[in-house]
Amino acid sequence: MKSREKAVLAALRLPSQPRVVVEESLDELGRLAESAGAKVVGRATQDRRAPTPGLYFGKGKVEEIKTLSKRQGADLMISDDSLSPIQERNLGGSLGVRVIDRTALILDIFAQRARTMEGKLQVELAQLSYLLPRLVGQWKHLERTGGGIGTRGPGEMQIESDRRIIRHRIQKIRGELQRVRTHRRLLRDRRKASGVPVVALVGYTNAGKTTLLNHLTGEDRVAADALFVTLDPTARLVTSPTHASFVLTDTVGFIRKLPHQLVAAFKATLEELAEADVLVHVVDASHPGLDDQMQAVESLLGELELMGRPTVVALNKIDRLEPGAARALLARFDGVAISARTGEGMESLRTRIDEALQPRVARLTLRIPYSDGPSLAVCYERGRVISRRNEPDGVRLEVELPRRLLTSLEGYRLKD
Ligand code: GTP
Repeated sequence: MKSREKAVLAALRLPSQPRVVVEESLDELGRLAESAGAKVVGRATQDRRAPTPGLYFGKGKVEEIKTLSKRQGADLMISDDSLSPIQERNLGGSLGVRVIDRTALILDIFAQRARTMEGKLQVELAQLSYLLPRLVGQWKHLERTGGGIGTRGPGEMQIESDRRIIRHRIQKIRGELQRVRTHRRLLRDRRKASGVPVVALVGYTNAGKTTLLNHLTGEDRVAADALFVTLDPTARLVTSPTHASFVLTDTVGFIRKLPHQLVAAFKATLEELAEADVLVHVVDASHPGLDDQMQAVESLLGELELMGRPTVVALNKIDRLEPGAARALLARFDGVAISARTGEGMESLRTRIDEALQPRVARLTLRIPYSDGPSLAVCYERGRVISRRNEPDGVRLEVELPRRLLTSLEGYRLKD
């Protein structure tokens, strides 16, 4: 087996960026690198007013990174920010190690993990578009180093290819994608026709979606402590004697600073969410960056126009928290505390999903005594009265009401 590549991480801090943001972003870059199979052996940041056009970093810093790389035996430098093809090449020349940026790293992870046809095609498309401007003079370099992170996927093809071949391939992939999408639409329509509601898991990468899906469906799918294990939505039927049945779909983990080449691919994969009746937002409650992660997920849901969808927040990994910390979180979020690992809280989660799946409005017939004016007023003010008949012992109303008002009126309900 090829030994793990050793990587040095580097980032520039512009005057507008708080130090902690840059450090956190580098932490995440480190986790991404690890999940791509590399070992992080060092990191460097530089405060600068702006990047330099040729090397991105300043000359002195490049020397420093070079020394660090040598000392640590690194074979790879990963920049947290996007590099232009020229900067990438110049840096590679100065440092004597392979240089990639966050985009190439994420593309590499996607290439390793894509499972479905559509996922694979989308990643290849994104990789090829990323490669196109980087063609000149790269191949010799790649031949010499023999691949590695950032060169997988269409890698072998790169060496003998030229732009024309790549453009041709891009066109072909677009055609294939169209076909795959049509097929998927058919499957989706069939599922819809079956009338089983759809529940979709969403969440920041590594929150525990796959683990939860396994727990709920009793099936063992890969859950690695690696980012992006889930690249494609997958659907499973979840049944239980005591709860509503539903189709459960998993989605790709969200991430901040997603390369723009991938946003489109990502969105296409998330199209499935449009048909979900309920979303379960899985959150890693033990993560220090919990609020930022939730915000990143919410803003993407907003872009997909899904903010109004009934959503259950699942505060996962509660087994890692002190009971007090869990209670504090529950006070802040209207969520359910769960552990996908130990199974804690699953019953409450199922109940919350049941509630969310029920249409939020119920249609019922009531007989309200003339003496209870306030209840009658509630029906008129908060509900939609469909018919009214005055009977000797009260008003008989056929009414549509929000479900949460039902309990107070339950006593007046007439059995249909
Ligand atoms: P992506 O595919 O990257 O989006 O990740 P995911 O959200 O599907 O996460 P996954 O289920 O792969 O879980 C990530 C890691 O968290 C794995 O190592 C899991 O074992 C771990 N994990 C998931 N749920 C829990 C939990 O309730 N408690 C603890 N302690 N660990 C958990």
